[in-house]
Amino acid sequence: MKAIMSAAAVVGVIASLLLLGMIFGVVKADTVHLVEGYMPMQMIFELAIFVAGFTGLSYMLNSMGMAIPRFWQGIGFVAFILFYLKSRVYPPIPFSVRAMYGTVTMVAVFMWMSSNEEDWKKFRQPILNVMDAATPKLKLIRTLFLIAIPVALWGFSYQSFVPQGAGADVDEPIELRTVHPAPPASTKVHGKTFVLQTSQNPYRVNPEGKYDQEYSNKLIVEQAMGRLMQANANPWDEKAEGYLKNVREGGEIFFQNCHFCHGDNLNGRGLHAFAFNPIPANFTDPGTIAQLQETFIFWRVSKGGLGLPREGFPWASVMPPWEQHLTTDEIWKVVLFEYWHTGYYPRTWD
Ligand code: HEC
Repeated sequence: MKAIMSAAAVVGVIASLLLLGMIFGVVKADTVHLVEGYMPMQMIFELAIFVAGFTGLSYMLNSMGMAIPRFWQGIGFVAFILFYLKSRVYPPIPFSVRAMYGTVTMVAVFMWMSSNEEDWKKFRQPILNVMDAATPKLKLIRTLFLIAIPVALWGFSYQSFVPQGAGADVDEPIELRTVHPAPPASTKVHGKTFVLQTSQNPYRVNPEGKYDQEYSNKLIVEQAMGRLMQANANPWDEKAEGYLKNVREGGEIFFQNCHFCHGDNLNGRGLHAFAFNPIPANFTDPGTIAQLQETFIFWRVSKGGLGLPREGFPWASVMPPWEQHLTTDEIWKVVLFEYWHTGYYPRTWD
């Protein structure tokens, strides 16, 4: 028995020294490979070695008359487990998980300590002694505890509120912004009410002068990059009439008013674009006008950033309310131009 125990004790001492050595950099930190991920087998195996080692050590010390009190054995074991979990597992286990393991370990140690009446007495005696505080020394310890516990709790809560991270440089909270908030049912521009569901761009017309999205869509041959105009569909042709002429007029309005921000390629990279947050919309991005109905765009252009509803928070948009500068007709035309130039079709309601 003694031989086995002394062997275990030797193993325990070597394992502990090795662990401390690796943690404090006396030997290479990966002399024994770290428990990678949550490899339970390696962890259980290592812990079993430590438990055997500690048992051996305790037995040896006991037989030399230098027994470690039960109380400190228990505390020491919980501390060891926490220390082991913190330093032996890679990637590091988050605190919350370690706290959980720690609690389980504590329960296990309690069961161990209270497994027989005698051990349980030995374990709780130091605690009772401190609470009774019969001697001046114990009284001092009790007083220290009474101060230390609230201070520790305060420190812990304080610590969890203090911003962590590099130089405690706190990131500003992300501002969630609904880029395309739900539009109102109708919008009033220059005294006229437009119902978004039923209004139509009066300039998207076929040669007969009727609203006709099919017709205007057909004048755009290709979508995505490399968009082409049909040979007979050049808005800058002197002789262009109807829809195409409206596109040209919309283009003129765009280059007089919008390109400073939305860019001459309509890609949101205008001269002033990066002075603003949020940056101006990139109309070539399939996530903007291509997703939206023409009346939605009409509403956005007329009312600008100021007209955004609540979900458009933080209302930091510099998009001007163009109804203050353009006529209703001009707004419809510039919208027409944005779709024409990007080659996207306005979304329809169905
Ligand atoms: C001072 C800069 C500025 C100018 C000039 C400007 N815009 Fe904007 N625009 C913005 C910004 C910034 C946004 C993005 C924030 C927002 O949605 O309000 C935007 C958004 C938009 C949107 C919304 C797109 C979407 O996906 O919801 C449309 C449409 C639009 N602009 C059209 C125009 C038109 C047409 C003009 C010219 C008549 C114009 N803008 C001029 C800054 C500008």
